[in-house]
Amino acid sequence: MSGSQPALTFKILAECGVSKARTSLMALPHHVVETPVFMPVGTKATLKGLLPDQLEAMDCQIMLGNTYHLGTNPGPELLTKAGGLHKFIGWNRALLTDSGGFQMVSLLKFAEILEEGVTFESPYNGSKMLLTPEESIKIQNAIGADIIMQLDDVVSVLTTGPRVEEAMNRTVRWVDRCLEAHGRPEEQSIFPIVQGGLDENLRRDCVKQLTQRKVNGFAVGGLSGGEAKDDFWRVVNLCSGLLPRDKPRYCMGVGFAADLVVCVALGIDMFDCVFPTRTARFGCGLVETGQINLKQKKYALDFRPIQEDCECSTCKRYTRAYLHSIVTVETVACHLVSVHNVFYQLRLMRDMRESIKIQQFPQFVRKFMKNMFVDSE
Ligand code: GUN
Ligand code: ZN
Repeated sequence: MSGSQPALTFKILAECGVSKARTSLMALPHHVVETPVFMPVGTKATLKGLLPDQLEAMDCQIMLGNTYHLGTNPGPELLTKAGGLHKFIGWNRALLTDSGGFQMVSLLKFAEILEEGVTFESPYNGSKMLLTPEESIKIQNAIGADIIMQLDDVVSVLTTGPRVEEAMNRTVRWVDRCLEAHGRPEEQSIFPIVQGGLDENLRRDCVKQLTQRKVNGFAVGGLSGGEAKDDFWRVVNLCSGLLPRDKPRYCMGVGFAADLVVCVALGIDMFDCVFPTRTARFGCGLVETGQINLKQKKYALDFRPIQEDCECSTCKRYTRAYLHSIVTVETVACHLVSVHNVFYQLRLMRDMRESIKIQQFPQFVRKFMKNMFVDSE
């Protein structure tokens, strides 16, 4: 899908005025995405328990894939032969891939960061492997997602001391290696990732350096790893205030409903998280008061849907009682709850976009917070 069209254009449609919330159209090669947007995570090229058709029916506009998983299996050669991931999995809308380093560091025991890249032991055969910024981009070029992420040096948000500064500076050095290695800049946008832990000066310095690069959007990384909410909000607010107004801002790994609402108010446009599908696999359904655990006995005779006014295919047909009866025994239960949870997230984002458009975002936030924290069961 190359041509004269740039890989990303970002058009703000409305701003809240009181907060930093805005709604926009982000035009990507495969789809025009309305923001603020939540991107469900399809780790291994499928969303656990959901099919591309179902996601499209729910009006999911952009999905996330992981370079680390896709780079190993099916692998870049097969993906190139298949004509990219969109064709391979039958998903015609937008895709974003994360660069792989974060997944390795967070999932694997023996990952080690060197200046050259991230070394790790293959979980498949135990051999030593190295993922460099160049290799990550090469794999992401083969996958062909509309937005691709730089390889970054991520440390736990609870780390303090010189390692945080080292990771931030290395992330800046690696973005240049990624941009240099990029083989398809007309079709794919690389987003750099702001790091720097909870240190305001490091975050400031990182934004200052990254905004000197020619890129179409920015991510804020290294958050949502067990830090206090105050710290999380402070860093998000600082970064969004320093990043350019006319480019999309993506807060990585954020997916609790209340965090989405607060981060939208702080000027964030894009989110991803495994939370809605992961919590579904534990039998938890998302509702306006938080979440309900369908395994609990109290749902055995509850003939309401997961959420009363929900329009998803699960809520239209199935009751809490039915889901309770199958939730620990049938994989279809995970599937049904996943459908609801992803639908819930997408609807929340749609409701926020609508409220921003009609200048009612503050009223939306008040009602949301009251339901979630005042009227909860
Ligand atoms: N997912 C959640 N947080 C991060 C991060 O800081 N970096 C990357 N690459 N992915 C993430
Ligand atoms: Zn539902």
